[in-house]
Amino acid sequence: MSGAVVEKSAGESARVSGDARIAVEAGRRRTFAVISHPDAGKSTLTEALALYAEVIDEAGAVHGKSGRRGVTSDWMEMERKRGISVTSAVLQFAYRDCVINLLDTPGHGDFSEDTYRVLAAVDAAVMLLDAAKGLEPQTLKLFDVCRTRGIPVLTFVNKWDRPGREALELLDEVEQTIGLRPMPVTWPVGVAGELRGLVEVATGEFRRYSRTAGGATRATTELVPAEVIAAEEPQYWAAAQDELALLEEIGAGFDEKDFLTGTATPVLFGAALNGVGVARLLDALVELAPAPEARDDAEGNPRPLEASTSGLVFKVQAGMDRAHRDRMAFVRICSGRFERGMVLTHAATGRPFATKYAQAVFGQQRTTVEEAFPGDIVGLVNAGALRPGDTLYSTEPVQFPAIPSFAPEHFAVVRGADAGTYKQFRRGIEQLDSEGVIQVLSSDLRGDQAPVLAAVGPLQFEVVTARLESEFRAPVTLETLSYSVTRRTDAAGAELLKGQSEVEVLTRRADGAVLALFSNKWRLETIRRKFDGLVLDALPAGSSE
Ligand code: G4P
Repeated sequence: MSGAVVEKSAGESARVSGDARIAVEAGRRRTFAVISHPDAGKSTLTEALALYAEVIDEAGAVHGKSGRRGVTSDWMEMERKRGISVTSAVLQFAYRDCVINLLDTPGHGDFSEDTYRVLAAVDAAVMLLDAAKGLEPQTLKLFDVCRTRGIPVLTFVNKWDRPGREALELLDEVEQTIGLRPMPVTWPVGVAGELRGLVEVATGEFRRYSRTAGGATRATTELVPAEVIAAEEPQYWAAAQDELALLEEIGAGFDEKDFLTGTATPVLFGAALNGVGVARLLDALVELAPAPEARDDAEGNPRPLEASTSGLVFKVQAGMDRAHRDRMAFVRICSGRFERGMVLTHAATGRPFATKYAQAVFGQQRTTVEEAFPGDIVGLVNAGALRPGDTLYSTEPVQFPAIPSFAPEHFAVVRGADAGTYKQFRRGIEQLDSEGVIQVLSSDLRGDQAPVLAAVGPLQFEVVTARLESEFRAPVTLETLSYSVTRRTDAAGAELLKGQSEVEVLTRRADGAVLALFSNKWRLETIRRKFDGLVLDALPAGSSE
């Protein structure tokens, strides 16, 4: 009897210490993405962050842009040529006593669905602005996603090493345009293009940065006494002091609650290319950005961090390089401790999923992951059955909310160009559909040989065509359809809409949703007026709608 008691308490204490470890490890995680308009410097900043966290010793190892070091797969060649990033890299690095998970998002608007999925897996975002351009269209869209998902946003004003707008003007734009109250953490001394250094707003300390050649090595910083910089740069120093006084007057000080509830944003200035302000941004992520918290399940009940292992699949990708023709699912750990080899349950099918091949993906490199904690991203190989939005769990079942699919606005019928490659064609379409590269729609009328591809942006068609050809040896032809508006309907709606001109009803293969496609908004409105009670629900808009 007493033995049983001892045993129980030993088990309990093991569980308690396990729980405590999960809480500690989760508390050290910072999982975030950078959102920006193309060319604002996301790749440069990503590389610089990794450089400052001492993960890599030469910037350029991650993305391999512009002839810098790096490996690309065959179809990634396309994104390189176009200067876009289709595939998202996941980087993990240690900084101070934290583990930072940086999820890259595609900058191009045509891949907004992919970005949306990535943002389902982060706890914070860094909004990167070009000092000369301020808020740009893609930044605004991505910010909207953050707002919808309640993701706290830090702002980094980049390219301060070259002429740009005034700091106060940029802050004003942020406040006026997106209603986020700026809370500067650092403040530039010297106008854009003539940066002398940064003042720490909370303490008034001034830091000078030494220039580095092209950002390939770390910039060094030097604390310079106020009276020294005031004597060296009287005009710039006085201007910065005036601005800081003004900021204090309007109450722009840091407020954690406002940041976490998405009503205010800490703002930092710098130049990713020269390493200015990059380490300070890492410090801000460690000090200000939230650690993982209990995530709501589909019923709205928070899943405690200490609950048994669970994760959310937010991205599925195949053909990541020539050597690995496998398919990888990127899973964000939401609760518990993940251990390689554990068998998880795939919530959608109830089937077991073995995790023998768990990897971390660093740019193009892969390493085996032995364990992971909430906030971490694990790449699961051989993930044939997994789709973005799926949940995996160990002992205590859970289902996280699905990641919504966007309203497609571009449509094309896809056909195998060569009858002899139909098998490969079908397999390729299935594969790309389950990765979520594009939505695949079908109907009895169109048949299996000529499904309809539905995209948020037309570049998705190019990815599909290139991949079908290079990975599946299935060249295809596309026939564009002139629909532009999608609504969700039901079986009754499908019946009513039969035979209507400029309208077609198709089923989305991934989730069985019945979608009505309309040539344009006016046609949609006419049909709506014609059929009283017809179900026509809007889907989340990815781009122009
Ligand atoms: P993206 O991923 O957001 O599209 O931007 P990326 O990092 O590729 O940067 C876009 C351009 O802006 C690059 O120049 C890059 O060097 C430059 N850039 C990024 N950060 C800074 C900065 O802090 N200061 C200055 N002056 N420039 C910056 P590029 O000429 O288009 O390409 P590259 O040949 O330098 O790679």
